[in-house]
Amino acid sequence: MEISSASFVISNTNVENCPKADLPEFAFIGRSNVGKSSLINMLMHQKNLAKTSSKPGKTLLINHFLVNNAWYLVDLPGYGYAKVSLKQREKLHRMISDYVLKRSNLQCLFVLVDARHQPQDIDLEFLEFLGENQVPFALVFTKTDKCNKTELNLNIENYRKRLLESWESLPPLFMSSAGKKQGRTELLDYLTQILKDLSSQVLE
Ligand code: GTP
Ligand code: MG
Repeated sequence: MEISSASFVISNTNVENCPKADLPEFAFIGRSNVGKSSLINMLMHQKNLAKTSSKPGKTLLINHFLVNNAWYLVDLPGYGYAKVSLKQREKLHRMISDYVLKRSNLQCLFVLVDARHQPQDIDLEFLEFLGENQVPFALVFTKTDKCNKTELNLNIENYRKRLLESWESLPPLFMSSAGKKQGRTELLDYLTQILKDLSSQVLE
C-alpha cells in the first residue's frame, strides 16, 4: 500500500470524544516504551508524526491519525508503567479498556511486545482480556534489531508455545524494527487485506 497522506487529527482522554466512527480503524497498544509510536512513524514514513521518547510514559492520550483520507491509525498510551501514581494508572487503564471495548470501527488492535523478552504476564493477561471480549488483534514483536536471529527465533517460539497453552490457534504474528525499517511491508499488506475484505463486504 502507498501512504499518500497521514496527518494528526485529535487527541482524547475519552473514547466518546474520538472522531465519528465512520472509517475503518487500526490501533497500537502494548507496554509503555515497547515502540508503538515509533512503529506508527515507520509505517507512515514520517519521523515525528507520533511523539516518541526514550522514557516510558510518553503517550498518555488516544491519538487519531487520518491516513490516505480513508482510515484511522490510533496511537494509544502504554500499559504497565509502574512509575505513575495508582490513580493515573487506573485512569489510563480505563481509557484503554473503554477504547478497546467501545470503538465500533476498530478492525484490528496490534499488540506490541518486545522481541527481547520472555512472555510477560501483563501482556498475556491483556491478550486474554481481548479474547474474552472478542476484540480482533495481531501480535507484533518489536525492536528485533536488538537481538540476534537465534534469540529472536527462540523468543518467538517460546511465545507461540505459551500462547498455545491457552489459545486454540495463534493470532497473526509480525516482527518489526522501527530503526531498521523492518516489518513495514508485512504490516501494511495485512492492513490492506483487511480494508479490501471490508469494502467487498460493503458491496455484497
Ligand atoms: P509510550 O508512549 O511511552 O507508551 O512508548 P511507546 O511504546 O510509544 O514507545 P516509543 O515509540 O516512544 O519508543 C520508546 C523507545 O524505544 C524510543 O527510545 C525509541 O527510539 C525506541 N524504539 C522504538 N522502536 C524501536 C526499534 O524497533 N528498535 C530500537 N532499537 N529502538 C526502538
Ligand atoms: Mg507512545
